[in-house]
Amino acid sequence: MRFKASTIFVTGGAGFIGSAVIRHLLRNTHARVVNIDKFTYAANSDSLPGTTDNLNYAFEKQCICDGAGLRHLFAKYQPDAVMNLAAESHVDRSIDGPGEFIQTNIVGTFTLLQEALRYWRTLSNEKREQFRFLHISTDEVFGSLGDDGFFTETTAYAPNSPYSASKASSDHLVRAWRETYDLPTLVTNCSNNYGPYHFPEKLIPHMIIKGLAGEPLPVYGDGKNIRDWLYVEDHAKALTLVLEHGTVGETYNVGGRNERTNLHVVESICDLLDEVAPRSGAHRDLITFVADRPGHDHRYAIDASKLERELGWQAEENFESGIGKTVRWYVDKQPWWRAILERGYATKRVGLSQ
Ligand code: NAD
Ligand code: DAU
Repeated sequence: MRFKASTIFVTGGAGFIGSAVIRHLLRNTHARVVNIDKFTYAANSDSLPGTTDNLNYAFEKQCICDGAGLRHLFAKYQPDAVMNLAAESHVDRSIDGPGEFIQTNIVGTFTLLQEALRYWRTLSNEKREQFRFLHISTDEVFGSLGDDGFFTETTAYAPNSPYSASKASSDHLVRAWRETYDLPTLVTNCSNNYGPYHFPEKLIPHMIIKGLAGEPLPVYGDGKNIRDWLYVEDHAKALTLVLEHGTVGETYNVGGRNERTNLHVVESICDLLDEVAPRSGAHRDLITFVADRPGHDHRYAIDASKLERELGWQAEENFESGIGKTVRWYVDKQPWWRAILERGYATKRVGLSQ
């Protein structure tokens, strides 16, 4: 029985990946889930349908930088595991305002580690053995690849943006709390996620929403930068598997073996929109090349063979199946993203460092 009688803290559970993890845990395991989320602009309770009546679910509005607040929650719920997904996640925003990234991603992870350690030390030997702290990170900590090669778990860290530098720092803290204090931690580093409930600032939902509005589709630079796309529900399954069966102290790369140039991604979205939401001209006509992102990493590509080999994980979606599902989801679920626009989110360019 998966996670029977277990309580799992999911920080950032109202965000894109955190909400997918919570939906997956509630649907497929017996875990009691406590969603700990500060509820920033990126949070959305509409991404957790049906949770309010679920006896296995609790929500706590809580910033991970607040040690006293976290201490109270550890005492109240006595968790068996923590999955740390709370973060500032958008590279462009980190260019304009790195301070929040330093606070949440570094200071917040430090504070969460300290409170997890304080709580863990109060547990029985048996409970200490079973406790897990899983930190969710990104492939961006490894920097940028040339045209060949892949990121593995032993690739040296070389972050290039304020976002990725803050994530790299948090990864190092998690490792140090294991090495120094024996806290049972694990780290995952994942490539670009996409799928339902993705906040409209990120490439794929941004292009779908602008395409549906008949607005220009802004491709940074020449569109030849490459990302390695992973369907978010495949990621949620991978994280659950790592929590259940991963080896303490290890890191696991998660990726879907779906490298695509940004231009290919945008053209694919355009072609799908031509089918499901035709306009008078082709959606490709809306593609506009705009000024590049400062410090724009050229290519990310994950070698996920450790996760596949050791834990038996396999991505179920490839890019073509996943992008088709995603475009249809945004066309069908317009109230979900229109509510975000109505709350004041403007789909305008940020991150030019001006
Ligand atoms: P997101 O921006 O969609 O959601 C982040 C969530 O964290 C939001 O609900 C927000 O309210 C919450 N949060 C922010 N600051 C907080 C704080 N101080 N205290 C408590 N909660 C706070 O992010 P996401 O895309 O779901 O990413 C989740 C995690 O996965 C992040 O750590 C990110 O670095 C990592 N990651 C993301 C991707 C991706 O493609 N989206 C890929 C690899 C790794
Ligand atoms: O690789 C994992 C990372 O993927 C995560 O750690 C981050 O949290 C997540 O946001 C994502 O970072 P990226 O910077 O790769 O994602 P973003 O969606 O912002 O951009 C993807 C690519 O598309 C990138 O090369 C920049 C480009 N882009 C983006 C936008 C928003 C455009 O060309 N036009 C756009 O309008």
